[in-house]
Amino acid sequence: MTTSSAPGKVYLFGEHAVVYGEPAVPCAIARRARVTVERRDDDQRRVQARDLTLDGFTVTWGGESDSRPDVDVPTPLVEAAMGYIDGAIEQALDAAGEVGVGFDVTVESDIPLGAGLGSSAAVVVAGIDAAARELGVGLEAETIADRAYRVEYDVQDGQASRADTFCSAMGGAVRVQGDDCRRIDDVPTLPFVVGYDGNTGDTGKLVAGVRKLKQTYGFAADTVESIGDIVRSGEIALNEGDVEEIGRLMNFNHGLLSALGVSARSLDAMVWAAREANALGAKLTGSGGGGCIVALDRTEQTHTALEYTPGCENAFRAELDTDGVRRER
Ligand code: MEV
Repeated sequence: MTTSSAPGKVYLFGEHAVVYGEPAVPCAIARRARVTVERRDDDQRRVQARDLTLDGFTVTWGGESDSRPDVDVPTPLVEAAMGYIDGAIEQALDAAGEVGVGFDVTVESDIPLGAGLGSSAAVVVAGIDAAARELGVGLEAETIADRAYRVEYDVQDGQASRADTFCSAMGGAVRVQGDDCRRIDDVPTLPFVVGYDGNTGDTGKLVAGVRKLKQTYGFAADTVESIGDIVRSGEIALNEGDVEEIGRLMNFNHGLLSALGVSARSLDAMVWAAREANALGAKLTGSGGGGCIVALDRTEQTHTALEYTPGCENAFRAELDTDGVRRER
């Protein structure tokens, strides 16, 4: 039996634009998905999942007895979760040069599903590492990132960048632009506060919406490029340790994401609550549509304000996690 974990993330800057070749800076946070894998004697796959936002479910499939989930959670969410786990197992089998091996898989996650905190990337990254090790193969974090990206790309119908999977595998703050992925060293302390509205966004649909806008309107294409400019300015601010400037750029980034139609009333309400509480900056994180915002605030004011914001289900402080994929057992 082997267990691996991998962190979720927030985007300091650059989600959506990264899909079109602009840079993005996601940061791993100390909220993890843990995947435990045990090889079976047959070729069945049995998955048990427990997540902050789910009561938990069990699914068995493969071999001769493909079965639908015995669950009381929305089918698309379960199908996506199964797709990510199945993909992770296939990648591990491929790395080990094996076929037709069954597994019992247990997923425990303190990252809400589909909320913009990279839960799927964390599950895939931890799943590949755990399953590969269960098959006797140790993979480098970069290799896991690359294989995890292929899984996300397939499950999300080609609407994925390398940002989430690279960040989860490597940990820390990272810079991703197309296939060029690297860690950013010596980042200043970033006092993240996350607000969560309890909703999920459909990444595929949101990415497709931005693509359509970009194809239809030159100014939407310019907006995507402007997000790239914000990221480039943000990198300078990060390098100089200028957290106030990072906050201002986050505010600008949120405005442009909003213009591209990926914010939501609840996300805007949380962003404004953070700003009124004197946060250094606040923006939605991830694909949007619902889910989370991330703010920078060294004081307790944003956290308190979010707790009283209608539509905010949960607010918490998040530390940068310098560890990426981690062997737990
Ligand atoms: C989703 O977490 C971030 C997006 O930029 C899509 C991607 O980069 O794969 C919206």
